[in-house]
Order: sequence, then C-alpha cells, then structure tokens
Amino acid sequence: MSLITRLPIAGTFLVLILSLFPGNLLLSERVVDDTTLGLERQYMPVIAQNAPVGAPTRTLPLPLGTGAPPPGNGQYAIIAWNDLGMHCMDADFEDFALLPPYNTLMAQVVRRGDEPKIVTDVQVEYRILANTTSAQKVNFWDYAQKLFNLNAPLPPDIGLKGFGLQGRMRAEEDHFIAEGIPVTEFRDDYPRTPYPYQIAEVVARSPDGDILASTQTVVPVSSEMHCESCHQDNGVANPDIATGKVKQNILLLHDREEETQLFEQRPVLCASCHASHALGTSGRPGVDNLSRVMHGTHREISAGPDGNVCYRCHPGPQTRCLRGAMAQAGHTCQDCHGTLADMARPGRRPWIDEPRCSQCHASEYSENPGRLYRFSKGHKGIYCQACHGSQHAIYPSREYNDNIQSFLLQGKAGTIRDCLVCHTNPPDADEGPHRGDDHDSDDGDD
Ligand code: HEC
Ligand code: HEC
Ligand code: HEC
Ligand code: HEC
Ligand code: HEC
Ligand code: HEC
Ligand code: HEC
Repeated sequence: MSLITRLPIAGTFLVLILSLFPGNLLLSERVVDDTTLGLERQYMPVIAQNAPVGAPTRTLPLPLGTGAPPPGNGQYAIIAWNDLGMHCMDADFEDFALLPPYNTLMAQVVRRGDEPKIVTDVQVEYRILANTTSAQKVNFWDYAQKLFNLNAPLPPDIGLKGFGLQGRMRAEEDHFIAEGIPVTEFRDDYPRTPYPYQIAEVVARSPDGDILASTQTVVPVSSEMHCESCHQDNGVANPDIATGKVKQNILLLHDREEETQLFEQRPVLCASCHASHALGTSGRPGVDNLSRVMHGTHREISAGPDGNVCYRCHPGPQTRCLRGAMAQAGHTCQDCHGTLADMARPGRRPWIDEPRCSQCHASEYSENPGRLYRFSKGHKGIYCQACHGSQHAIYPSREYNDNIQSFLLQGKAGTIRDCLVCHTNPPDADEGPHRGDDHDSDDGDD
C-alpha cells in the first residue's frame, strides 16, 4: 500500500487500488455490525479520529455493504458534495413540518490534462448506497401534498424538486446538481438505526454510457431534534399541556400564546406563515421569519448535558453535525455563528448572513465577495466545497465517511491538494489554489 500512496498520478492510483481489491475495499476489522449493537444511534467508527489532522492513512475500509465505486478511465476526475453541512428534517409529518427530506448534491467533472478543463458534456448519475427507499421509512408522502400545497400527490420516493434517491443530475453552466433528494437517515437493512452520514455514489459517463470517473460523498441528514426535552407532556415549556405527542403539545402552546388554530389545521408547515429562505416561502405579512421566532423565543434556554445549546434542536448530541477541521481545532457553533440572541438579532437575514472563512483566515482564503461559501469558487472555477468539503465537515472530518472522497482522489484525508487529481503534469506551484490572481476570477453574485 505504501507504494500506492506514493504513486504520482491520481487516476492510475485509483485504478491500481481498485484492481488490488476488486469488489469491496473492506480492510478494517474496526467496522462494526449494526445488528449486534442494540444502540439507538450508532455510526461507523472513525479511523482518523486520533491521528494528527491531515496524517496520511493507507487503508481504505469502506462502510459495510457499500463496496468501492467503479473505476474510471483515468482521463477524468469527478468531485461531488452536499451543499449544506447537515440537512435537518422532521421525523414525523402528521402534525407539523419544520423541514422536509431535502438534500442537494452537486458535482464538478474535470477532464484531466496539462490544462485541465471543467466539462459538462458528460452524464452524471447518483445513487444513495444501501438506501433505495424513503417512503417506507417516514410518513412525509402521506402529508406532502397538503403541507406544500401541491396540485397532485407527490409520488413516493420523489422529492419536492422531482429528484429521487437515484437518477441523473442536471447539468448547469459548470457543475451538476440534484436538488431536494428525499433521503432519510435510515438505510434499507437498518430502518430504525439512524445513520446520518449517508453515502452517495456519483458516476460520470460518456454519452455512450462508458464510465469516465466516479466518487463517493456524504449526503448528511438527521432528524435528531430534541424538542421533547422541554415540550414533552407537562414539560418545562408547557407544564399544563399533555396530549401524548410532543408535536401536538407544541401546536397547542402556539395556539394558546398566539391565538392561532394550528391544532385544528394539522398538518401545518411552520414556514407557511414564518418565512424561510430554505423552503423559498415568504410567509405572512407581519409575521416574523422562522429562524428569528425559533432562535428568539428560545434565546434563554440552557444547554443539555453535552454543553451545546444549539444541539438542543440541531443534530445533535449524538449526530454531532459539526465534525470538520474547525471542530477538531476546538471551535464551537457560537465561535462562528454567535449566540441564540445573535441569531435572532433584528435585521439579520437568515440563510444569507452566515459566517465567513475570512472571519479567522487570511483574505486570500475568503469566499467570493457577496457570496456564501457554498456558492463560491476558487482555483479556475472549482467550487470551494470541491476541495474543502461542506461547511461543518471541512476536510479532514471526524467522520470516516466524509473522508472517503479525499482518500479516493488523493490517497489521504484532507484538503484536495494533490495537483495531479486534475493536472497530468506537475503545474507551477506559485499559481495553484489561493496563489496569484487566481482567487477573484469569479463574477456575478448570489
Ligand atoms: C431546552 C428547552 C427547549 C427546547 C429543546 C425546545 N423548546 Fe420550544 N420552548 C421552550 C420554552 C421554555 C418555551 C416557552 C417560552 C415562553 O414561555 O415564552 C418554548 C416555546 C416554544 C414555542 C411557542 C412560542 C410561542 O410563544 O408561540 C414553540 C412553537 C416552540 N417552543 C417550538 C419548539 C420546537 C419546534 C422545538 C424543537 C425543534 C423546541 N421548541 C425545543 C423550551 C424549549
Ligand atoms: C397560521 C400562521 C402560523 C403558522 C402556521 C405558524 N405560526 Fe408561529 N406565529 C404566528 C403568529 C401570527 C405569531 C405571532 C407574531 C410573530 O411573532 O411574528 C407566531 C409566533 C410564533 C413564535 C413566537 C415568536 C415570539 O417572538 O414570541 C414561535 C416560536 C413560532 N411562532 C413558531 C412556530 C412554529 C414552530 C410553527 C410550526 C409548528 C409555527 N410557528 C406555525 C403564526 C403562525
Ligand atoms: C429551539 C430550537 C433551536 C435552537 C436551540 C437553535 N436552532 Fe438554529 N434553527 C432552528 C430551526 C427550526 C431552524 C430552521 C429555520 C428555517 O427553516 O429558516 C434553524 C436554522 C438555523 C440556521 C440557518 C438559518 C439562519 O438563520 O441562518 C442557522 C445558521 C442556525 N439555525 C444556527 C443555530 C445556532 C448557532 C444555534 C445555537 C447558538 C442554534 N441555531 C440553536 C432551531 C433552533
Ligand atoms: C467554522 C465556522 C462554523 C462553525 C463552527 C459552525 N458553522 Fe454553521 N455555518 C458556517 C457557514 C460558513 C455556513 C454557511 C455556508 C453557506 O451556506 O455557504 C453555516 C451554515 C449553517 C446552517 C445552515 C445550513 C447549513 O448546513 O449550511 C446551520 C443550520 C448551521 N450553520 C448551524 C450550525 C451549528 C448548529 C453549529 C454547531 C454545531 C455550527 N453551525 C457551527 C460556519 C460554521
Ligand atoms: C472561528 C474561526 C474559523 C473560521 C470562521 C474558519 N476557520 Fe478554518 N481553521 C480555524 C482554525 C483555528 C484552524 C486550525 C489551524 C491550525 O490547526 O493550524 C483552521 C483550519 C482550517 C483548515 C486546515 C485544515 C487542515 O488541517 O488541513 C482549512 C482547510 C480551513 N480551516 C478551512 C476553512 C474554511 C473553508 C472556512 C470557511 C467555510 C473556515 N476554515 C472558517 C479557524 C476558523
Ligand atoms: C483546487 C482546490 C482548492 C479550491 C477550489 C479552494 N481551495 Fe482553499 N485550499 C486549498 C489548498 C491546497 C489549501 C492549503 C494550502 C494553502 O494554505 O494555500 C487551502 C487552504 C484554505 C484555507 C485554510 C488557510 C489557512 O489559513 O490555513 C481556507 C480558509 C480556504 N482554503 C478557503 C477556501 C475558499 C473560501 C475557497 C473558495 C473561494 C477555496 N478555499 C477554494 C485548495 C483549494
Ligand atoms: C480539482 C481540480 C484541480 C486541482 C486539484 C488543481 N487544479 Fe490547477 N487547474 C484546474 C483547472 C480546471 C485549471 C484551468 C486550466 C485552463 O483552463 O487553462 C487549472 C489551471 C492551473 C494553472 C494555470 C496554468 C494551466 O496549466 O492552465 C496552474 C498554474 C495550476 N492550475 C496550478 C495548480 C496547482 C499548483 C495545483 C495543486 C496545488 C492545482 N493546480 C490543483 C484544476 C485543478
């Protein structure tokens, strides 16, 4: 294996690994079998957890039952990512919905060469490994039509933008996208064991169907919201309400405080009255946006035993969605986002006024002016997320699955820094990513 990690050409490297271990790259005995552990939530072990950040690792154990992605022809590279660091969804839609199942996958395909080229004249397909259905795992499809005011029922396993758990990504100007994939945190074989770091396999094919390149990336999804810790029957937030259902308690509390009739109108979409940029709703005039009412009303709550107040609602003490390089450097949510009160401050635009890398890193490492991280591009039009991963999972990540892609591309976890992933000859190092006039080559705004 040490020979393999030193091989200079990433394409050859990948093919070589794959030919050594055809079928399945399960090399580690540390992979556990979910069926034997009676844990409510448990995940794959993490190999790089105790290794120094960025340390080269030579084995590539893939999670149970997933296998290696098919080899390409070495002439192309594909890099894929989820647009958000974590997608949070409700576990049950009978009473109300904060957020539907809705992951968005993006990818860029590079034709390798002396002058690599970002291309879109290929086809890109995706599928979620070991996870082919959602409709049997969550009751979203029973309520989607009413919640989202649709003209017709939403077909099972199809998301709000028409994409399913597998299919073809849509080509845009310089990337591919599949929006609103309705994936849940439950794999087919373990429909009750949350597995929030789901893996998508993404494959680029020629118009004739030949495989050009493939990769694996995480589509993170979790329903770990702990409203029940305060809104359970007779809970601290609603001492005299006890319907037997947490979500119904919340609706009755809202009705009592705000003189609404949400309980009778079940199922309700919170964002139908409280604007949410995430769902594209503009809300009702005079009613505050969803982020502000939620963060503002709860600004005085205390943290749970894990000490993180954000994990009361965001996934969560078990999922620990903050898992990338900054988490390992000891940063907490508040270091980047501020407190609950800061989140709810007047004038703040939710989903737009977000933290920036340049709050801590030098300006040559900042996002494009006026653009969020996820819409920004660096080196010659490559998205920041292609080389660094999603916010909250900036490479290298605590979670094994997040690191698979960088292993596949360059043989070690961390920032995509091996120029030969895309270049076929070592390029001029003075002009690589974050060097020279490279950075602000982008135009437009979001
Ligand atoms: C740590 C405790 C805690 C958690 C966790 C919590 N809440 Fe609350 N919530 C409260 C308290 C306390 C109030 C009452 C505030 C008051 O009396 O004004 C409240 C009030 C509310 C209200 C009523 C607001 C109003 O005045 O109309 C809603 C709606 C609500 N919570 C929803 C949620 C949802 C949804 C979740 C989970 C995503 C959640 N809460 C999690 C403590 C909590
Ligand atoms: C039919 C419209 C409607 C729906 C649906 C609705 N709300 Fe409200 N909500 C209001 C109104 C009106 C207020 C009071 C005005 C305001 O705070 O903007 C309010 C207030 C709140 C508050 C308290 C704000 C504060 O500062 O005291 C919270 C929290 C809240 N809503 C959360 C939710 C959640 C969570 C849902 C989904 C379960 C929801 N709302 C669904 C209309 C609605
Ligand atoms: C009481 C539950 C609750 C708590 C506690 C909470 N959030 Fe949220 N948060 C939500 C909900 C619900 C949404 C979705 C709002 C939407 O769809 O627009 C959200 C959305 C967000 C967003 C995206 C929208 C935006 O406003 O930009 C950020 C960022 C965020 N939360 C950060 C935090 C941070 C940081 C903390 C801890 C300091 C925290 N949240 C604590 C419920 C909560
Ligand atoms: C190192 C800085 C950093 C830390 C730490 C951090 N965030 Fe974020 N977060 C960001 C950035 C940057 C974005 C927006 C990026 C974009 O949309 O392009 C973001 C976006 C979000 C969003 C919107 C949805 C998404 O996934 O993009 C939520 C919700 C959120 N953060 C919650 C949290 C919570 C909860 C924590 C702690 C568990 C946390 N963040 C820790 C930088 C951070
Ligand atoms: C709150 C401050 C803060 C913010 C905001 C922040 N970082 Fe960091 N970042 C750090 C610290 C601290 C380190 C660790 C530095 C070290 O160990 O030398 C780090 C390390 C890194 C590394 C090196 C990882 C490695 O070990 O290879 C990368 C890459 C990185 N950050 C990217 C980002 C990106 C991209 C963003 C914006 C989405 C961002 N950072 C936002 C504080 C921050
Ligand atoms: C082609 C791959 C590539 C792209 C695209 C890319 N980066 Fe980087 N980034 C790197 C490499 C390699 C490093 C480490 C070498 C260095 O420090 O220059 C790095 C380092 C960083 C760091 C850590 C700097 C530090 O203080 O250690 C941040 C922050 C960062 N990049 C942000 C961004 C942002 C924001 C974008 C998009 C505007 C982006 N990067 C696009 C490859 C890339
Ligand atoms: C994810 C793919 C990717 C990675 C990784 C990458 N590059 Fe590039 N690079 C490109 C693309 C695309 C171009 C645009 C080629 C063109 O249109 O001329 C480019 C162009 C360049 C150029 C301009 C001259 C030329 O050959 O066209 C230099 C210099 C360069 N890269 C250096 C680097 C260095 C140094 C590294 C490693 C530290 C690196 N690149 C990593 C994709 C990449």
